[in-house]
Amino acid sequence: MKKLITFCLSLLLLSVISVYAQEKPSAEYTENYKKVMDRTQWWREARFGMFIHFGAYAVPARGEWVKSNERITTEKYQKYIDVFNPADYDAKEWAKIAKAAGMKYAVLTAKHHDGYCNFDSKLTDYKLTPRFGGRDLVREFLDAFRAEGLKVGLYYSIIDWHHPDYPNVGNHPQRDDKEYGKRTFNWDNYLKYMHGQVEELVRDYGRLDIMWFDYSFDEYSGEKWKAKELVQMVRKYQPNIILDNRLEINHGTATGQRKISFLGDFETPEQGIPDAPILDQYGNPVPWETCLTLNNNWGYAENDRNWKSPELVIHSLVNCVSKNGNLLLNVGPDARGRIPEESIRILKEVGKWMDDNHESIYGCGACQLAKPDWGRYTRKGNTIYAHWMHPNLGQLNTRGVPADKVKYVSFLKSGAELSWQKTWWGNNETGNFFINIGSSPKMPYPFDTVVKIEMSE
Ligand code: GLC
Repeated sequence: MKKLITFCLSLLLLSVISVYAQEKPSAEYTENYKKVMDRTQWWREARFGMFIHFGAYAVPARGEWVKSNERITTEKYQKYIDVFNPADYDAKEWAKIAKAAGMKYAVLTAKHHDGYCNFDSKLTDYKLTPRFGGRDLVREFLDAFRAEGLKVGLYYSIIDWHHPDYPNVGNHPQRDDKEYGKRTFNWDNYLKYMHGQVEELVRDYGRLDIMWFDYSFDEYSGEKWKAKELVQMVRKYQPNIILDNRLEINHGTATGQRKISFLGDFETPEQGIPDAPILDQYGNPVPWETCLTLNNNWGYAENDRNWKSPELVIHSLVNCVSKNGNLLLNVGPDARGRIPEESIRILKEVGKWMDDNHESIYGCGACQLAKPDWGRYTRKGNTIYAHWMHPNLGQLNTRGVPADKVKYVSFLKSGAELSWQKTWWGNNETGNFFINIGSSPKMPYPFDTVVKIEMSE
């Protein structure tokens, strides 16, 4: 009994110590956190980027996972490689589309899981360049997007379903193929290849702003990829580059908090938006970016017509920004190299809204006010942007706005003044701030009418 009590007491002591220890970041952690925040500053202000999944998988047109989903062997996949010749690829056109949508950066797949390279790697023949009249698709992308003033990033799959030394693990197309599994896989050889390709990208393509590695699973995480060495090499060539967090599985803590790692600068929630700003275990904000498809696939999928509405895209962007996050919105160009018409249509609508309202997105982040039932808030310095997204009548109660500090309230789109008051029909509790929006059943501006509240401090 005595032993049990001592055991329980020491367990209790240990957990108290660990809670206490967690509250104090080490000097090393603090220093790294500061570096992460410095590096990501432009990116956290940019808020909106374009993801581009483009590769030979556009030929079968059933998404970029087709090789894995349909257990296709490399030999059988070759027919798509043979046909892939995106003659209409015009990176300048893509860059214009991204810019007009209000996007500030773009990330293109240099190599996806199928292993086929869009760039002119010297380490393999499994690449587009020789079949594409010597054109380097990645270089053209970088040049064109930089010329439009956009920041540029590359997606690189650390998984490779083509390389003979990459084992048939995880979702490898030959995962169930016993014969294939009997081959000898020389992991070190694969790592050498993978590190070598990353080196080509960070060394030979000018300044890169973002490197988007994808992805880790099971024991294929962190040091299995020799991630520290990889990151060191990347930073040697590109000291200011921003890295995503997928060189390791970042589980976070039991409370859903995240740990800023030395191996990545930002979190990558996929196809979903967290319900609150992401914080580290000490309560500091962690940079994050939701990546989102416009239909249900990353790579081109002929029969996927499940397009998101421009309204949902705008609401999702605002949702991210209202929690200190970014949105990386995907397009999957077709086999001829063209961004699908439907994507362009949606992006144009988004761009129209951004033209009028980008001030409530760029450089903005979370606001301390509780989320109202009619929409969301974003904030930049002394200005609060009330995003009126859902039909509402009479007044927007922006509860918590300090009335004595308010200088001016207006529609962001037109600059037109809006009147406000502290009471409404006998509701004169302190803390209310009612903005008069009249009784029209229609919102003045579609999707999200932004009301700007300027304060003196
Ligand atoms: C996943 C998928 C991949 C896609 C990526 C985008 O990891 O494997 O196909 O590129 O997410 O976030």
